[in-house]
Amino acid sequence: MSVALRAYAKINLGLHVLRRRPDGYHDLCTVMHRVDLADEITLEPADRITVETTSREAQGDETNLCFRAARLVQQELGTHNGVRIGLLKRIPVGAGLGGGSSDAASVLTALPALLGAQLPDAVLHRLASRLGSDIPYFLRRGTALATGRGEILQYFDLDVPFTILLCHPGIPVSTAKAYQAVRPSGAAPPDLPGLLRRGMSDPGLLRRELINDFEPPVFAMHPSLRELRDGLLHAGAVYASLTGSGSTVYGFFTEMETAAAAASRWEAEGIRTSLTPPHFHPAGDGAA
Ligand code: C5P
Repeated sequence: MSVALRAYAKINLGLHVLRRRPDGYHDLCTVMHRVDLADEITLEPADRITVETTSREAQGDETNLCFRAARLVQQELGTHNGVRIGLLKRIPVGAGLGGGSSDAASVLTALPALLGAQLPDAVLHRLASRLGSDIPYFLRRGTALATGRGEILQYFDLDVPFTILLCHPGIPVSTAKAYQAVRPSGAAPPDLPGLLRRGMSDPGLLRRELINDFEPPVFAMHPSLRELRDGLLHAGAVYASLTGSGSTVYGFFTEMETAAAAASRWEAEGIRTSLTPPHFHPAGDGAA
């Protein structure tokens, strides 16, 4: 018996770093939204935990988040049964798309059943938070407002009527370094779901008000990322932004053809791209 899973990437729609906390993390306020780009994972019962990955960037050893997720499930269930994890990476690594986090969440949700057991949602959430701040979001499909260090989640309906073009320039950005460089606003969290709902029919509002606080410090470290963001706007995007702490930059396009033409131009320059169609929801989206 084996199971095959698709672990979708996310983008951040607005991201506010509010304050540094005594535990070294930062309180933030962001919306996370799935895009049509996914890793493929297979799980097969085995004597021990192993990870085989196609990616040269991702490690298949004990530091891999999938390995660590499987180990936490093993410990929680009090079992020595293992799993062979096959990981086909399509989501660029270190790109602000949550690829490793999505993979780990897929292992947390699917592995207990494969081992003939069940873990309550609250336990999965606790294990996910231990592994990383944005992993709890990936336990469920859909769009969510994330606060706290990213683990306090409110899912809400958001239909994005735009084609989303992702550009992956392949510049690794360290999340920890980006947090060190960002200046927390100290402000109250803004109403991102309200802004986004209004902005879906008024992209000018998004350009004015939907802000990612990582852009100033990350663009200062990597000016080519600002050029890429501005390039998306020149190519016809009605909104463009860095996702997370980068380095992926995305744009919203009203015409799919315009987005596809821009994608071809960047691909010809060696920049990887991916397209998400309008109204995209991954299969099973919204399921608890
Ligand atoms: O939780 P995670 O391992 O993904 O975070 C990586 C690093 O990013 C943390 O060690 C911390 O430096 C920083 N971080 C933060 N505030 C958050 C999330 C992450 O400062 N809310």
